[in-house]
Amino acid sequence: MAKKFLGIIALLLACSVALCQNLAVHFLVADPGEDASREIGINWHCNRPGSILEVREASDQSFENAQRYCPAEEVWNLSQEFVTRAEPDSVESLFCDSRYVCSVNLSGLKAGCSYQYRVVLGNECSEVRNFTTASGAKEWKFVAFTDFQPAHNVKTHAIIEKVLSLAGADVPLAVCSGDMIDYSSAEQSWKWLLDNEIFGRFLFASSPGDHEYWAKGTERHIPQLPKPLVYNRIFNNPKNGLEERLNSSFFFHYNNVLFVALDMADSNTPRTSMFEREAEWFRQVVESRKGTYDYLVVMEHKGIFGSYTNDSGVAKYMRPLWAPVFRKAGVDLVLCGHDHMFSRSVSIGGTYYLDMGTSGKKVRTPDEGLYNDGLHELVLDLKASGQCMGAVIDVGPQGMQVRVYELDGTLIDSFIIVHK
Ligand SMILES: [Fe+2]
Repeated sequence: MAKKFLGIIALLLACSVALCQNLAVHFLVADPGEDASREIGINWHCNRPGSILEVREASDQSFENAQRYCPAEEVWNLSQEFVTRAEPDSVESLFCDSRYVCSVNLSGLKAGCSYQYRVVLGNECSEVRNFTTASGAKEWKFVAFTDFQPAHNVKTHAIIEKVLSLAGADVPLAVCSGDMIDYSSAEQSWKWLLDNEIFGRFLFASSPGDHEYWAKGTERHIPQLPKPLVYNRIFNNPKNGLEERLNSSFFFHYNNVLFVALDMADSNTPRTSMFEREAEWFRQVVESRKGTYDYLVVMEHKGIFGSYTNDSGVAKYMRPLWAPVFRKAGVDLVLCGHDHMFSRSVSIGGTYYLDMGTSGKKVRTPDEGLYNDGLHELVLDLKASGQCMGAVIDVGPQGMQVRVYELDGTLIDSFIIVHK
């Protein structure tokens, strides 16, 4: 009798485990909060209201005693002012269907602690994902990427996997300097990128690229959004940026590094006062954080020492504006992209500029200026080589060692940024 009873209990438990899955949640990500030793932003989309977040320390056995958080829920769709519904038989959704954009700002977390989290609605739950808060360590590593586009390519998740394995230790943070998809209004593209198990292994921080401004460039849709409206519903970044670009410009501390993400706006860079206001915000951030970090890393999609021909407004307008700002701030490393050409600068006023070209498949032939301006240590023609890149950055008390790898594991570039 007792045996039968235990059998029924086991069956019930098995059923409850089986039931607790298959919750249709998309874009479940963990972004660092301003102080990533205790603050983390979680974000997801759900097509039903009432989903909650469960968070537990990874060392706990189950979610039974997890902390539970009700998210801020925004009912949202991408207004038809910007995109129109795709043809009825199209598989492509353009965020026209309203959904619940859910955000939780976790605070009061333990420093240096690994957590697991999942989204639950009734008996259903999402997959379990992970993040680790900053411990205050002086020696640690993070990984960096740029330009995952085009969506659905087979290289992006492979290069992330490769770089994580080459890092050879738990990597708490991955960053990307923008253009993660081709058209930000293409919902399937974001699903391809983020609804992948690998994005459940680390905190993810990004600066938006111009393609995060792209709607859908056909006659029926406007080509560009006035702000990265989709990006802002996908990522829950610290809201400490330029007032007119909250969430798409921001800063955070992870251990001894201050990261600043800049919003470099849409394509074909114009001269605009927004960048002057953003530069002033940047100056104030760096001034106010003085003494709280060892290294300053900037993520800006459009590298100011990049191509002269691709988006020529960058060299023309952005370089004179930002170069003195970065020099004065003592920026150690600028992670950039946009050009789809690999270029790594010499130290320019104490700052190294690394444009890995692509962590996907989109490539261009470098222009002559990059080869001949005397500002670059290494320029590679990715169009000729077909290479796809990612970097491991080892942070230590003496400096930061940057190693860039290609998909087959070959070390492409290695340089040391000495602690100032
Ligand atoms: Fe771009």
